[in-house]
Amino acid sequence: MTDSSLAIVVLAAGQGTRMRSATPKVLHPLAGIPLLGHVLATAQALDAAHLVVVVRHEREKVAAAVVELAPEAVIVDQDEIPGTGRAVEQAVAAIPAGFAGDVLVLSGDVPLMDADTLAAVLADHRRAGGPVTLFSTVVDDPTGYGRIVRDADGSVLRIVEQKDASEAERAITEVNAGMYVFGATALREKLAGVTTANAQGEKYLTDVIGALHGDGHAIGGIVVADEWKVWGVNDRAQLAQVGAQLNALTVRGWQLAGVTIVDPATTWIDRAVTIERDVTILPNTQLHGATAIAEGATVGPDTTLVDTEVGRNATVRRTDATLAVIGDEASVGPFTFLRAGTAIGTDGKVGAFVETKNAQIGDRTKVPHLSYIGDAEIGEDSNIGAGGITANYNGVEKSRTIIGKAVKSGAHTVFVAPVRIGDGAYTGAGALIRRDVPAGALALDVAPQRNLEGWVHAHRPGSASDLAAQQAAGPAEAQD
Ligand code: UD1
Ligand code: MG
Repeated sequence: MTDSSLAIVVLAAGQGTRMRSATPKVLHPLAGIPLLGHVLATAQALDAAHLVVVVRHEREKVAAAVVELAPEAVIVDQDEIPGTGRAVEQAVAAIPAGFAGDVLVLSGDVPLMDADTLAAVLADHRRAGGPVTLFSTVVDDPTGYGRIVRDADGSVLRIVEQKDASEAERAITEVNAGMYVFGATALREKLAGVTTANAQGEKYLTDVIGALHGDGHAIGGIVVADEWKVWGVNDRAQLAQVGAQLNALTVRGWQLAGVTIVDPATTWIDRAVTIERDVTILPNTQLHGATAIAEGATVGPDTTLVDTEVGRNATVRRTDATLAVIGDEASVGPFTFLRAGTAIGTDGKVGAFVETKNAQIGDRTKVPHLSYIGDAEIGEDSNIGAGGITANYNGVEKSRTIIGKAVKSGAHTVFVAPVRIGDGAYTGAGALIRRDVPAGALALDVAPQRNLEGWVHAHRPGSASDLAAQQAAGPAEAQD
């Protein structure tokens, strides 16, 4: 149910200089979605009456992502005055003036905080009745964070940013998480008085805390026990650290849901992936995008699946697949490349050194070795002999190969598309198929075999082959 006295502001206007990237920081991917996507999903779970996202740097890209990830959000453009304080000031101006509820401020670069923790803090804040509750945590290395300055009896006095901190303040290991709940009225009033008189020339949101304390208000604070929940991403080392933490949690979640994951450290699972019980994931496996794995399947080792569906009890070994559908009981790999539009039927097989693209492979049909099957349709119960190739590209356009059911192609058959092979047809080994083959026919195109007797002895006298051939012929010829 919508919380009518809650507004959420997500900060996403900063440049993210420390990422040294052409991509805005909040759009860097983490478990398959942008950093900002994690924060927006958490915000959405709280179902606030107002959701405002502040943008500025690479405005068009970030705004487009917001529209996709949270279409209900109001997008506010930050002006040229820099700083988190200015960002919140402009966001609050977009919330109806009569709103006197709570404003939860989240940073677009702090992706691991969860909705349950936020809801608990919000409840505490409302019970305490003060103008602000901030989130802090104690970290081993506080570098880069704002430090929480407390007085002798432990009350919060203010927050000091790294660049403005004294030597003694820099030694403080309790840091500001960059998330806060403010009473809307107090926030509006205090933001108006914040200046840019600091080392970075920015309007700091954190200065509101000192101002409220100066007015005699007690500053509420929640020390978040799980440090990782408030880890911010400012550079790529932190991006990797946050990614590893999220992945460890994801892997554990699937393990507890009944998935065998042999090596959590080398298994990477995106946020949108779904896995049914009794699936086994072997080491060095990456599951990306909207990949879905059905009950009993075995995936890996050394496998990367992107937006791929794996059927019940299927086996997928040492495979790279994108936008593929693998049927129930099917077997794929090892060393197999399934490209977009591949669909393998129930109990089908695509084996070693096979590449497929835009290929529908029927139930029980096998493409076991060394093949390229592209822009093709193969019916049920067919077998493509080793080295079968669909020649789908004439240098200008792509054409389709349609192969019927119960077809057996000889090893090294080349299907020059467009071409159709009727049900139950055969092709001979090495056949170059340029014309349609009717149902039940055997298609041969290679010339009859000629054996030129004695050719090796005549043309390669004294070679190892010649000697072997002479030995095979027996002692009489060997003395020749
Ligand atoms: C901020 C806090 C710091 C805290 C840390 C936690 C301030 C002044 N400092 O520092 O106390 O420990 O977060 O991660 O708030 N942003 C805007 N507009 C701006 C500047 C930033 O929207 O003008 C957004 C950024 O896109 C980002 C968030 O605000 O999502 C935080 O900005 P960032 O520059 O990363 O602040 P920190 O230096 O990390
Ligand atoms: Mg930051």
